[in-house]
Amino acid sequence: MLIANPNASRNTYPDDLKAILNIQTAAESRTWLANWNTLNRAGTPLFSLPDLAAHLGVAELMIKDESSRSQLGSFKALGAPIALVRLILRLFPEHPFEPRGLLMGDYGDALKDFTVISATDGNHGRALAAAAQSVGCRCVIVLHANVSIEREQAIAAYGAQIVRVPGNYDESVEEAAALAVEHNWQVVSDTSYEGYEDIPRDVMQGYGTIAAEIVEQASDQAFTHVFLQGGVGGLAAGLASYFWELYGTARPAMIVVEPQQADCLFQSALAGHASKTQGSVDSVMAGLACGETSPLAWKFLHTSIDHFMTIEDEDAVNAMRMLAQGSDRDVPLVAGESAVAGLAGLIQLLKSPHLAAEVGIDESSRILLISTEGATAPAVYSELVGETAQSVLKRQHLWLQRK
Ligand SMILES: Cc1ncc(COP(=O)(O)O)c(C=O)c1O
Repeated sequence: MLIANPNASRNTYPDDLKAILNIQTAAESRTWLANWNTLNRAGTPLFSLPDLAAHLGVAELMIKDESSRSQLGSFKALGAPIALVRLILRLFPEHPFEPRGLLMGDYGDALKDFTVISATDGNHGRALAAAAQSVGCRCVIVLHANVSIEREQAIAAYGAQIVRVPGNYDESVEEAAALAVEHNWQVVSDTSYEGYEDIPRDVMQGYGTIAAEIVEQASDQAFTHVFLQGGVGGLAAGLASYFWELYGTARPAMIVVEPQQADCLFQSALAGHASKTQGSVDSVMAGLACGETSPLAWKFLHTSIDHFMTIEDEDAVNAMRMLAQGSDRDVPLVAGESAVAGLAGLIQLLKSPHLAAEVGIDESSRILLISTEGATAPAVYSELVGETAQSVLKRQHLWLQRK
């Protein structure tokens, strides 16, 4: 399903939004994150997929591969760590903490009794647990019933205490908030709610690193369309705000793609304000299986996104297989369930000349996709793709050597 956003703006990036998310603070976050030894120092690659572009009938298809951002396996490694650093700086103004030293563990002794907590559907919690371990503070992660055991183990491996709750993501968010009040712990959430915006803002600002790298890697090649997958909307807001501020009135068209069962952003566009999904929230795209829009993210998406669309789980699985396959000129990619929503959405649009025309995609279009995770749940990945992530990576390695 596709809808045009009647509130999409082509004006320059508004000052009230710039006061919240801006390129300058994104650059500062990037500098601080550069010292975290968990992250890949070289950033992540931006690949061109010429064979897939030709097959789909567009001029260029580029994909930013966040699977290699760190051993955490997803772009979320850019959000929680920077939010944790900025939180500590705000909470302990009397301490001479140096931002770069925090993620290097320089102040572990001073922070060993400080505790952070968050709900997660996997990737945010893994990133927070890893950041807390590096900083030297305590971390509690609340998981809902649908988070797999392998995702739980990956988080626990970073020393986090795990709390399980029945229900879905939104219920785990409520439980994390309640536990924080009870124990005087600090919630480090990637979604906002009333009176809670600073931390999700810092998380979204951390994602600006992805946009900054893309701009450097693509140099003078402008994109006509950017596809952004949506959970609570943080990733989309972090990148859309960056591109809007940078390109102003010439910004690319931006399209948000969600699972049909977890279409809170689509519903928000229909309602004209941050809303909930009417679906079951249960999707194979675990990272996008969110029932409620982050109101702070919506402030940005409300006017920066041109179209919202939903896809089916099987569209995502097909897109995972397509990227894993690769071709003579396209690198094989390990792209997890939530990574491929943009490609799946693009494919859906191109199946219908009417929909493609509505979004303005034709043979001259230059499309940007963000592959936001690798095989963050390896068993799920192998089952869906029919090949292990290691095997795809081996083929990728050979492909890259051949080039
Ligand atoms: C791999 C992946 N991609 C995309 C998203 C969506 O991000 P957001 O919830 O900020 O919209 C998530 C969220 O967890 C994710 O894990």
